[in-house]
Amino acid sequence: MKLPSRPQDKIIIALDVPDTDGALRLIDSLSDQGQPPALCKIGLELFTAEGPSVVKAVKSRGCEIFLDLKFHDIPNTVAHAIKSAVGLGVAMTTLHAVGGPVMMEAAAQAANDAGGSDLLILAVTVLTSMDSAQLGSTGINVEPKEQVLRLARLASNAGIGGIVCSPLEITAIRESFSNSREALRIVTPGVRPTWAVAGDQKRVMTPAEAVQAGSDWLVIGRPITAAENPREAYAKVIAELA
Ligand code: C5P
Repeated sequence: MKLPSRPQDKIIIALDVPDTDGALRLIDSLSDQGQPPALCKIGLELFTAEGPSVVKAVKSRGCEIFLDLKFHDIPNTVAHAIKSAVGLGVAMTTLHAVGGPVMMEAAAQAANDAGGSDLLILAVTVLTSMDSAQLGSTGINVEPKEQVLRLARLASNAGIGGIVCSPLEITAIRESFSNSREALRIVTPGVRPTWAVAGDQKRVMTPAEAVQAGSDWLVIGRPITAAENPREAYAKVIAELA
């Protein structure tokens, strides 16, 4: 997937709604002179409720899809899920890096074999809901940051194109992957413009700060979707990135 150059193409709208009608209403409310958001994220809630038909419906509005289902299973199963994602024509999808190198290699290979070399597979490292105590309880006794870097390295070595990480991890990842040939794409949720409430996101940066730190795409939900005037909020974020 090509890196975005225009500010509006760096924003991924999180379609955190329960059904297709809600997703399409949200897209329409953000469309500017018939131009929909470039990229929309369909996650577990919406996909579990509506299935592949919601992907087709959102695509037919002219948006590219980030299918965020965070695959984590044996290599054969994940490889087939990736093949299905290629069949759906999505632009980005996710898997858990803790699935291991063989699982990630199988995923990257499956995308290529299915004619989806353009599909950007993103590895989720450590969920931002996990702190050191939570990690420790699963038997991983290192700081989250160290684990993030370890898993990002595994993903990169396995041929995975990018990672999802919190704004506060961007700089460490960029430093660790400074060699451009191994540059990972970075997608960042948890951004908050100064004029938006943080909600349950604790470790936040503004959209402009996250892009400056080296994020390629920003996943934004409530600061735009729950704003009094979503289109105005969307335009404000785009202006801040410009
Ligand atoms: O509304 P908000 O801007 O917080 O939405 C962010 C989106 O990114 C949600 O869809 C959320 O599930 C997702 N996300 C996140 N933190 C992660 C991974 C995904 O906020 N670590």
